[in-house]
Amino acid sequence: MPKTILLTGGAGYIGSHTALEMIRAGYEVVVADNLSNGSRESLNRVERLTGVRIRFYQADVRDARALEDIFIECDIGGVVHFAGLKAVGESVEKPLLYYRHNLDATLSLLEVMARRGVGTLIFSSSATVYDPACAPVYTEDAPLKPVNPYGWTKFMCERIIKDACAAEKGLSALLLRYFNPVGAHESGLIGEDPRGVPNNLMPYISQVAVGRREYLTVHGGDYPTPDGTGIRDYIHVSDLARGHVAALDFLLANPCVDEINLGTGRGCSVLEVVKAFERASGRPIPYRIGPRRSGDIAAFWADATKARKKLGWEARHDLSEMCADAWRWQSMNPGGYEL
Ligand code: NAD
Ligand code: UFG
Repeated sequence: MPKTILLTGGAGYIGSHTALEMIRAGYEVVVADNLSNGSRESLNRVERLTGVRIRFYQADVRDARALEDIFIECDIGGVVHFAGLKAVGESVEKPLLYYRHNLDATLSLLEVMARRGVGTLIFSSSATVYDPACAPVYTEDAPLKPVNPYGWTKFMCERIIKDACAAEKGLSALLLRYFNPVGAHESGLIGEDPRGVPNNLMPYISQVAVGRREYLTVHGGDYPTPDGTGIRDYIHVSDLARGHVAALDFLLANPCVDEINLGTGRGCSVLEVVKAFERASGRPIPYRIGPRRSGDIAAFWADATKARKKLGWEARHDLSEMCADAWRWQSMNPGGYEL
């Protein structure tokens, strides 16, 4: 019998791509999402791509009673916890909202898992937990020191999960620290569909390319990097999704508690991304160099060794494929899922 895995926040960007890869790997997938930033249509499209029906519950993870009903009804055997708020700037403006939301969601999930005797958890953490003083290459044992409330919620959730694992023999968890997920499934049917003005680089560039925005503002051209623009470790979302399958396979066979970077181990600058996107789309991406964005650092990327050694996973797609797939998604769905 395949294990039934609950994806909280599975109707979002990373969750929908992970649902697809998990179904292809033979897992049965159940999604609980309150649709605050996700779309039911993303799962309809995963169903189209896989030919498999996904059990979907429009539910808030903070509602422990609703969550427990799902565990009972579906006989959940493990959880991938994506659900949460993720906008860095908004977290600076509304810190209490972020602490309340992200901590409550994780606490309520852990309580229900304990009550139902479910002992396998994969958690969506972030490279933003690391101390920027350790940049540019982050290894998992680098000191942690987030610089915004969103990052602190990830730090605190990691701590809470580790303490729960220490207290409960049957609970094991992998804390996956994502670098910069970009791109879309190669079919162009699912992708990133941000609401309002995109905060992140790749969706902003995609919207410039498709004519929804006039030009890109490059946040800073005077960093101590070869071309003066910020450097990040962009990772194709389908590689990231396969990283979750590898993590789940591993955790089910080897219960433990550990943190693992999911990145490529290579950094690219903003202008390298702009040029790669121009090549992939055949369209010019007008840009203007603006001031630095508050809270940004010059450069960071993953040491991706641990994921390779422990999970047998590594990223396959390069920047040109990330841009080509982001462009396919954007040009096939210029208004996202709704239009
Ligand atoms: P997303 O917003 O597309 O997906 C999150 C999903 O969770 C959405 O569908 C939303 O509707 C749902 N959700 C939010 N709060 C909920 C709640 N209380 N109950 C039920 N559903 C809820 O975001 P994403 O980019 O797919 O990110 C997934 C996870 O990965 C998040 O935890 C995020 O913090 C983390 N992460 C993302 C990035 C990134 O750059 N995208 C980087 C590092 C970590
Ligand atoms: N950038 C621009 N113009 C834009 C948007 C971004 O020049 O319009 C630049 C940024 O200054 C940075 C790079 O593009 O140098 C990447 O910025 P993103 O906003 O795409 O990504 P960040 O590295 O700032 O943050 C992302 C997620 C965080 C996560 C972090 C580490 O938004 O949630 O990666 O994983 F924590």
